[in-house]
Amino acid sequence: MSEKLERPHEPTGYGGAPSLPKKLTVPDVVAMKKDGRRITMMTASDVGFARLVDRSGIVVILVGDSAGMVMLGYPTTVPVTTDDMVRMAASVARGASHALLVGDMPFGSYQTGPQDALRSAVRFLKEAGMDAVKIEGGHETVDTVRTLVENGISVMAHVGLTPQRVAMLGGFKTQARTARAARRLVEDALALEDAGAFSIVLESIPSPVAEIVTQRLHIPTIGIGAGPSCDGQVLVLHDVLGLFGEFKPKFAKRYADVGSAVVEALRAFDTDVRTGVFPDEEHSFAMKPAELDALKESLARPKAV
Ligand code: KIV
Repeated sequence: MSEKLERPHEPTGYGGAPSLPKKLTVPDVVAMKKDGRRITMMTASDVGFARLVDRSGIVVILVGDSAGMVMLGYPTTVPVTTDDMVRMAASVARGASHALLVGDMPFGSYQTGPQDALRSAVRFLKEAGMDAVKIEGGHETVDTVRTLVENGISVMAHVGLTPQRVAMLGGFKTQARTARAARRLVEDALALEDAGAFSIVLESIPSPVAEIVTQRLHIPTIGIGAGPSCDGQVLVLHDVLGLFGEFKPKFAKRYADVGSAVVEALRAFDTDVRTGVFPDEEHSFAMKPAELDALKESLARPKAV
C-alpha cells in the first residue's frame, strides 16, 4: 500500500524540518482521512511521556481513562473520576505542543445527561488544556454529543467494546460479532457522525465490520483491535512499551520491553548502593581542604552562646 509517510507536524530539533512545528487541530485530523493519510493516536497520562509521544510525530494524544488501570492501579476504568482525568490531562498538556489532545470523559461524567456532560467537558478544555473530549457509547450518547458540539466542544466517539460497561458486557470481549449487533454498531456510528462527532474509536470488533463503518463514515475511524481498514490506529502506551504486565489484550502490540530495562537499571542501582560502588567521586561534591579544616576546627571548639 502506498501510505504517505510524511508526518503532519515533524517537530523541530528532533531530526525534523527546520520550520516551526505545527500544532494540529481537529480539522487537520479530519482532513487526513480525505487525504488518505493514516492517523496515529497514542495514550499518555503524564508530562514526561507526553513529551516523548509528541516528539515522535504521533498525531493525536489521548489521555485515556485506561490510565485508571495503568497509572492508578484500578482493575477497570470505572472508578476513575473527572478530577483524576483533569489532573492527568493537564500534565499531558504541559508536555505536548504539536499533537491534537483528546481527554477521555470518565464513567459518571456524562451518563447523567447532556448538561452534566457539558460541565465536565468544559473542565477538560479550560482546566486541562485539551482540544477535544472522547465519550464511550452509541445511540444513547447522541444527544450528549450534539450538545457538546453545539457548544463548541469537539467530540471523539467510541463504540464497540466500551470498557466503562465492562461489567454489563461480561468482560473485555469482542463486540459486534453477529450481523444484528454489527448492524446496530454501524447505525450507532452513523448517528454519532450525524450528531457532530469529528472521529470515532472502534474498539475490539471484527475487521470486516470496521471496514464497513470506515467506508460509510466521512469522519475518521480510529481502530484498536478493529483490523487494518480503519483510518487510524490507537494503542495504550503502557502496552506498547511493555510497562503493564498484568493484562495484555490480543490486539496490543508490544514495541519495546521498557519494563525489563527499568527493572535491570533498578537492580544495578540496588547492587551499587549495597556494595558501596555508588555514589562515587563523579557523583559527589567535594569541599576545599581549607574549608573542611576550618569546619573541623570550629566543631572542636565549644559553641559560643
Ligand atoms: O482509555 C483508553 O485508553 C481508550 C483507548 C483504548 C481508545 O479509550
